[in-house]
Amino acid sequence: MENTKTWFSEWFNTRYYHILYKNRNNDEAKVFMQNLVSFLKLPKDNSILDLACGKGRHSIFLNTLGYPVIGADLSKNSIDYANQFANSTLKFIVQDMRKPFAIKVDAVFNMFTSFGYFDDDNDDIKVLQNIEACLNKNGVAVLDYMNVNKVIKNLVNTEVITRDEIEFRIKRHVTDGFITKEIDLTENNEELHFQERVKAIDLEKFRHYTKQANLKIKHIFGDYHLSDFDIENSDRLILILTK
Ligand SMILES: C[S@@+](CC[C@H](N)C(=O)[O-])C[C@H]1O[C@@H](n2cnc3c(N)ncnc32)[C@H](O)[C@@H]1O
Repeated sequence: MENTKTWFSEWFNTRYYHILYKNRNNDEAKVFMQNLVSFLKLPKDNSILDLACGKGRHSIFLNTLGYPVIGADLSKNSIDYANQFANSTLKFIVQDMRKPFAIKVDAVFNMFTSFGYFDDDNDDIKVLQNIEACLNKNGVAVLDYMNVNKVIKNLVNTEVITRDEIEFRIKRHVTDGFITKEIDLTENNEELHFQERVKAIDLEKFRHYTKQANLKIKHIFGDYHLSDFDIENSDRLILILTK
């Protein structure tokens, strides 16, 4: 496992990531979490690990519902931000998901494509093995990924998005099995470049991955309202996993 700088340790730790994705907000998180915990019938004393929690939008809402939650993320800036919401049943930690977790929980949620960042498939599998190892006996894991089939079919090659007066000049391409977003912006006369590089993992590959981690796929959904997954039309690929 490399400890050097990577696109994901850089980009997600910037304020620019949070500005570009500000539409992926608390309201979206609330709807999804409400639907998910009611589908899972998760008892209120069940502990949840929000793995790669970012600034904690899912963790914070789940905790207001009564769940004890730990949010974990590689980005120190995001965890520092999230920590202002911490309380006796809501904790945030800096954690690399490739390293074993020193806790046991009843549920692990990995939300909004917080997976598939690593060149080596064994690192992806390692993350799933870490999830399996930290789950209590009847635990459940939820992996919320993009539907790569739809993303690739509808890929917009170039786009300019202006948010908070910052012009994000975006180029997208699929290379070597990764969906890559090149992001250029100019601020205070400084030219900045970032990259987002997420593996094109389809359902078939997830079946292989989860098998390697001794996890079973119990349900497959295609959006935050938990509609059935449809390979052509679904925006998301949401897997409900058990040991
Ligand atoms: C697309 S964001 C989603 C954040 C959050 N789940 C949400 O929905 O707002 C992906 C997150 O994964 C985190 N991340 C990237 N690589 C990681 C790693 N190796 N271990 C833990 N977290 C990581 C990033 O810092 C970022 O916060």
